[in-house]
Amino acid sequence: MGLNLYAKVQHLLGIEEATENLHQIYIDLLNNYSVTNLLDVGCGDGALIEKLSHLTCKGIDLSSSMVQEATSRGLDVTCRDIADVDESFDAILAVFDVLNFLDSENLDKFLSDIASSLNSDGIFMADINTLHGFADVAEGVMVAQDENLFLSVDALFESSMLHTELTLFERESDDTFKKESEIITQYFHPLSVFKKNRHLKLIEKRKLSLYDKDDKMLLIFKKVIN
Ligand SMILES: C[S@@+](CC[C@H](N)C(=O)[O-])C[C@H]1O[C@@H](n2cnc3c(N)ncnc32)[C@H](O)[C@@H]1O
Repeated sequence: MGLNLYAKVQHLLGIEEATENLHQIYIDLLNNYSVTNLLDVGCGDGALIEKLSHLTCKGIDLSSSMVQEATSRGLDVTCRDIADVDESFDAILAVFDVLNFLDSENLDKFLSDIASSLNSDGIFMADINTLHGFADVAEGVMVAQDENLFLSVDALFESSMLHTELTLFERESDDTFKKESEIITQYFHPLSVFKKNRHLKLIEKRKLSLYDKDDKMLLIFKKVIN
């Protein structure tokens, strides 16, 4: 799925400020809930849980490179799917597009697995890209480079999917360049999908403006107890 290539080029994408701002929104919101232990799903390099040091935090991510980066910071992060998590938590987070990496079939299974890993009054917080966020903000072409890497990003939104082609040229020790290319697909999910979920009840939604007005939405869920 290109997650390790994404990990390798993340620092070239110019998303540090947006990431900081988004993380602060989660940190502020978490203060409204009684949370002692937390799982960050798709935690990336662990930057958010590093800031939540007053809580017992674990992270999981499907990119081994991201997990390596997070563990090198001394964080409790493993390379696992949410389906393989057998503990339960007061809060689970999926921050910065994680839900958009799942197609609709996998999203349903993912939300069911999240509910299974929540304590009975636990909360799940996540953000999703709006249609505007995908079609008008994320779409486009950019290039970026540092001393050893040259990256091109070409993102096209069609049929409710954002296809982002990452092409990386990486300098080798003999000064030649190695080329790597991956397409990462993200999926638009309408709010209605979350409103009718059987495992999680949507209790709050907020519009977010990360790069542009209302380009994201933050969702808070409680576990449905049958
Ligand atoms: C845009 S990054 C966000 C990273 C981090 N949450 C942050 O706020 O900086 C999305 C992350 O989700 C991970 N990811 C995507 N799908 C996943 C899944 N099904 N389970 C766990 N991690 C996933 C990717 O490897 C990547 O690290």
